[in-house]
Amino acid sequence: MTHPTPLPTATASTPEAIPVTNPLRAPEDYRLPRIAGPSVLVIFGVTGDLSRKKLMPAVYDLANRGLLPPGFGLVGFARREWDAQDFAQVVHDAVKQHARTEFKEEVWQQLLEGIRFVRGEFDDDEAFDRLHQTLRELDESRGTGGNHAFYLSIPPDNFETVVSQLKRHGMAEDRQGHWNRVIIEKPFGHDLTSARQLNAVVSQVFPPESVFRIDHYLGKETVQNMLAFRFANQMFEPIWNNNYVSNVQITMAESIGIGGRAGYYDGIGAARDVIQNHLLQLLALTAMEEPNSFEAAQLRAEKQKVLAATRPPADIAAHTARGQYLAGWQGGKQVNGYLDEDGIAPDSITETYAAIRVEIDNRRWAGVPFYLRAAKRMPRRVTEVALQFKPAPHLPFTAAQTAGLGVNSLEMRIQPDEGITMRFGAKVPSTQMEIRDVSMDFNYGGSFTETSPEAYERLILDVLLGDPPLFPLQQEVDLSWQILDPILENWESSGKPEGYAPGTWGPASADAMIGRDGFTWRRP
Ligand SMILES: NC(=O)c1ccc[n+]([C@@H]2O[C@H](COP(=O)([O-])OP(=O)(O)OC[C@H]3O[C@@H](n4cnc5c(N)ncnc54)[C@H](OP(=O)(O)O)[C@@H]3O)[C@@H](O)[C@H]2O)c1
Repeated sequence: MTHPTPLPTATASTPEAIPVTNPLRAPEDYRLPRIAGPSVLVIFGVTGDLSRKKLMPAVYDLANRGLLPPGFGLVGFARREWDAQDFAQVVHDAVKQHARTEFKEEVWQQLLEGIRFVRGEFDDDEAFDRLHQTLRELDESRGTGGNHAFYLSIPPDNFETVVSQLKRHGMAEDRQGHWNRVIIEKPFGHDLTSARQLNAVVSQVFPPESVFRIDHYLGKETVQNMLAFRFANQMFEPIWNNNYVSNVQITMAESIGIGGRAGYYDGIGAARDVIQNHLLQLLALTAMEEPNSFEAAQLRAEKQKVLAATRPPADIAAHTARGQYLAGWQGGKQVNGYLDEDGIAPDSITETYAAIRVEIDNRRWAGVPFYLRAAKRMPRRVTEVALQFKPAPHLPFTAAQTAGLGVNSLEMRIQPDEGITMRFGAKVPSTQMEIRDVSMDFNYGGSFTETSPEAYERLILDVLLGDPPLFPLQQEVDLSWQILDPILENWESSGKPEGYAPGTWGPASADAMIGRDGFTWRRP
């Protein structure tokens, strides 16, 4: 393929020209910006929530940071009666409203030159011919190099139709020096069987190295920092095991209800929505052994190893809990119960609170329970991983002196207030010995001048670079479902979840569940 206007950075910035592209860089190249090579991003489902709030703004932010090449194209595919200008206006509005970085007219104008729109239904052959034609035109006019990434930001039941169309219309195969990649969003199925079916469909068309599964938590700076924190320092790893850690609590709490997402959420619930993907990925990063390097193969191998050693509870009734939020008051406002939300069946048994206890069968973690909980209508929004430590084996103090001493803990806050807190006892200043809990904080805002990029910026850039470490493999997806499936089957035959008041930390059964082990939930 010829490029009439080869652009200055295109050659130097092809993926092949980037020497090392992994989360922790070699010291000699960490200052080099990782700039994508010539390429086109095609978004299916461009009218959707994800595309408007995250994907289109992330593309602009990358352009604004100088990380997209001049030879870049953005194609929207949707069934709306739009022309190219209508679509450009939609992108413009999304960028203005949701982009992280400042709006600059010159950046927008350059992006605009590569924006195209293709109207059509997913089963419309002519629309896919038009898409192919549009890609050829961009490759010629913008020098996008025949490299195309197809983002399926659509309901998963449409994946098969779209990937089959891409194959049928000749847009799936890599040709000499040019690539075609597909990006799929969670949920990756709703159980092990459907996840495997979904994968079979995608892998008939795209080889494994061309499939990028997005779990956007892995694109977060705070999640990647877990690797830096654990493996770049000497002082934490010696205590990162069952000699010192009593339990680990991984929490994803949202203060909102399901909003307008009934169609998506009902029948899915908290465990499938976030425990299967985000929370089990956080568990893997917390518990895995040190990888030989941060190249994709090594990182994924360690994550798989620890997920394979993670086992669901034998007594599911005793070691899991689920709930559904009730109507009530939260933050001074009256809110609906889950069953009163628009579009929810009055007899729905979908859980909006899920807590599970798992154990990891290996030398490092034997005997340490990992508690994972995800819920809506909690008192506050927070995602964190907290390691709680065993008490000191001996306290040379009286009980009164240590009455204010809590549990030593280390808390990695993924969002918001991104940072790390350590909690330990310290002497209260006085003439007496009295010990009380204090905390020591690291927070991103106070320590770095750079603001963190959005997860989708990092992940879209990595797809365009062909850099795979932050994308889970199908094996990880399968292992996660193997942990969750027995729990979900049990829940489906266990009737209604327990109600909990909005703005509280969940149902009483969740407290009972962790209480059986002698622990209590953190109230972050
Ligand atoms: N929203 C999030 O924050 C989020 C987070 C993680 C993962 N995801 C996943 O990302 C994907 C997109 O999510 P979303 O929230 O953006 O969904 P959404 O708001 O429901 O949007 C779905 C998109 O798919 C299009 N679509 C649906 N059926 C179609 C059909 N038969 N033919 C053509 N287009 C069709 C819709 O087009 P119309 O406008 O024409 O209907 C819309 O553009 C889903 O798989 C979701 O599970 C979303």
